[in-house]
Amino acid sequence: MKVWGAGDIDAVGEVTTLEVGPKDLVTPLARERARELGIELVIAGATPAAPAMATTPPTPPTPAVAASPRRGAGEPRGGPVRSLRPPSGALYRRGAPLPDALASAVHGSTGRVVVVGAGHVGMITALRLADADLFDELVLVDIDEGRAAGVALDLTHTAALGGFATRVRGTGTVEDAGPADYVVITAGRARQPGMSRSDLVGTNAAIVGDLARRVARTSPHAVIVVVTNPLDEMTHHAWQASGFPPERVVGMAGVLDTARFQALAALAGAGRADRIDAVALGSHGAEMVIPLSQATSAGRPLSDVIDKAALHAVVDRARESGAEVVGLLKTGSAFLAPGTSAAGMVLAMARDRGQIMPAAVLADGNYGIHDVYIGLPARLGRGGVCEIVELDLRPDELRALRQAADRIKERLSQLATAS
Ligand code: LAC
Repeated sequence: MKVWGAGDIDAVGEVTTLEVGPKDLVTPLARERARELGIELVIAGATPAAPAMATTPPTPPTPAVAASPRRGAGEPRGGPVRSLRPPSGALYRRGAPLPDALASAVHGSTGRVVVVGAGHVGMITALRLADADLFDELVLVDIDEGRAAGVALDLTHTAALGGFATRVRGTGTVEDAGPADYVVITAGRARQPGMSRSDLVGTNAAIVGDLARRVARTSPHAVIVVVTNPLDEMTHHAWQASGFPPERVVGMAGVLDTARFQALAALAGAGRADRIDAVALGSHGAEMVIPLSQATSAGRPLSDVIDKAALHAVVDRARESGAEVVGLLKTGSAFLAPGTSAAGMVLAMARDRGQIMPAAVLADGNYGIHDVYIGLPARLGRGGVCEIVELDLRPDELRALRQAADRIKERLSQLATAS
């Protein structure tokens, strides 16, 4: 038996058909590559018309650049960007699961995504990830194992409705979940009315630190996406605890804050939310920076579309949106937009189209900021952050961003003293 990877397909040269042995295993990525190159795969001994993998429904080739000129949901800036690598979504295509060991041996992928925390945010993250039908397996982890299993089963029941073949499982530990490509950490205490995100720092640092260390042991090649608050500090903490390179630890908040700004600007009359281009940077909290120099609606500066006072009110409301929802809910915090945002980041990475999204990343001199996790525009790829993108910000916007970095650093030093 031979395992055909995408590299093997590239290596066969210019042929129109390729014979594979009846017992050979052709990886999903190899099939995608063959389709791209116009090579028909035939099983040795079968008629040339027979598909090599009769059980796999044909999938249309995934374009490296989205065919639509419009940005898709969860693509806050710039839209998909041409990737030099083949689209990795092919790794996880429906109907072609690879056993874990074989999958890792062939392409370093497990085809598994883990969502830690089966609370509201974890549930929505899981729902969006399952609906995308991209992964072989989705595992929900919660200290309340019954809850994780129950939510997983409930989600499994939607497979026909959502149109997905992703297996969904619930369990009590990240160890039991097994190695994953992506681990989303939503576990931790949520805010109650009157609490700021920073009030959660001590409790959630213990939870996130422990999880990050265990994820690093179980899934040494994973990308960790932190959702737990206070977001910037928890992402920094998870990075340190995991020992991972910074490109494999990112925080979800900029996507959420940007989406809120887009939605609120739309409510203020600036056009459809998905035609508004903007980016939320800085901290996920009081020092959120939404640079209006970058905000447009259908290509026009937002300041030309709605008046200045209304625009500033939208920025302020976006900054306070988390608290606004907490105040209305009375117990717990927002979950639909946060879960959708976290899933959007994972899907952007797994699809590997070089999408740029605002995310909490480790600044390494970018925008004059050093050694701290803060919301910046980042190009995401299969392995996490490919690069931090430098926007041409106005001096006041840059100043606000640097002040945000200083405040996050202060809070981190308080966290270090307390622990
Ligand atoms: C919010 C929480 C998730 O902003 O931080 O709603």
